[in-house]
Amino acid sequence: MSPRANWSYPTAIRFGAGRVSELAEACAAAGMKKPLLVTDRGLASLPITANALELLDAAGLGRAIFAEVDPNPNEKNLEAGVAVFEAGGHDGVIAFGGGSGLDLGKLIAFQAGQTRPVWDFEDIGDWWTRANGDAIAPIIAVPTTAGTGSEVGRAGVLTNSITHVKKIIFHPKLLPAVTICDPELTVGMPKIITVGTGMDAFAHCLEAYSSPFYHPMSQGIALEGMRLVKENLPLVFADGSNIDARAEMMSAAAMGAVAFQKGLGAIHALSHPIGAVYNTHHGMTNAVVMPPVLVMNRPAIEERIARAANYLGISGGFDGFYDFVLGLRADLGVPDKLAALGVGRDRIDEMTEMALEDPSAGGNPVTMTPENTRALFEACI
Ligand SMILES: NC(=O)c1ccc[n+]([C@@H]2O[C@H](COP(=O)([O-])OP(=O)(O)OC[C@H]3O[C@@H](n4cnc5c(N)ncnc54)[C@H](O)[C@@H]3O)[C@@H](O)[C@H]2O)c1
Ligand SMILES: [Fe+2]
Repeated sequence: MSPRANWSYPTAIRFGAGRVSELAEACAAAGMKKPLLVTDRGLASLPITANALELLDAAGLGRAIFAEVDPNPNEKNLEAGVAVFEAGGHDGVIAFGGGSGLDLGKLIAFQAGQTRPVWDFEDIGDWWTRANGDAIAPIIAVPTTAGTGSEVGRAGVLTNSITHVKKIIFHPKLLPAVTICDPELTVGMPKIITVGTGMDAFAHCLEAYSSPFYHPMSQGIALEGMRLVKENLPLVFADGSNIDARAEMMSAAAMGAVAFQKGLGAIHALSHPIGAVYNTHHGMTNAVVMPPVLVMNRPAIEERIARAANYLGISGGFDGFYDFVLGLRADLGVPDKLAALGVGRDRIDEMTEMALEDPSAGGNPVTMTPENTRALFEACI
């Protein structure tokens, strides 16, 4: 039987196959009587979403849904969602989906009670204290991909639809009150999303593990998270209905998000502008830029990566690890260069500036400069 457990780290998590059936109980635990289920357009028409609404309806909780959510959701999606939340008199949000549905759902619960524009709550210094914490509605998170880890995170990523910049909105109360991790929900992911989200989880663990900040707890979690991806992403790629491997990927995703409290780095600093400008899939973009970032960071992380290689059963130290990443990408059909995702060279200057301003840039083990960042884009495209 695939693993089943209740955890309270970093929030209450009901983990196990089939546990979406506890959705109504989770609403009771979070004090919701009239939840709004938020998901993206693609998921809205799938049976897993219909089933979730059915479960709510059967428990007398209604079947309200908001699904006007784009991949890489923006402030217009947020405004529309807040309007639906308020008009419906809802008292909480069920954020249901991949990172897009999860983040936008969390942000609706947050923003509905605020008077300042959402951009005032960007993850800078203590800006989160500007928010009225008491007005934040409770959140239940139900991930349907295994990648972003947003289900255990205190942030939501929002793209500015005018400037195309991705901003991280932070508040401690964006942490869901209850999370249901049901690996069965991830079985229907298109293969390319299984790969992209799995590589996002790996990127979170790798960047957290590599970042120079002192956070030994995250360090340990990141290392084990990499092992879970190494052993299970090939399995779910080969057989999407392997529930045990899907469960391990779901754990790895949550672990990546817990670990990246320690910091992210150039993979995400590049991937955020690329995603914002070209609307590429976040995790797939990370997978493409990973090897050139490893090369750039090598002088700072060689020894640390060699230790990870040891733990992961990879021989050859840093070189062995690098070859493993190349091999994993090739086996999963990840393109070698960004050009295959539709990224051109014409906006490199702009993206270089955006990357240097990205909050992830500060966690890169080698200081990012206009020169090395531009060179990275050149190498990745
Ligand atoms: N909050 C965070 O900490 C954090 C971290 C990393 C990324 N993100 C954000 O998350 C977003 C990406 O999330 P994602 O990679 O999970 O992709 P996604 O949520 O954009 O979903 C990708 C596609 O897969 C479909 N899909 C999702 N689950 C499915 C399922 N079970 N069956 C069939 N189809 C399914 C969706 O409809 C969508 O079309 C980006 O906006 C990124 O910026 C947030
Ligand atoms: Fe990510």
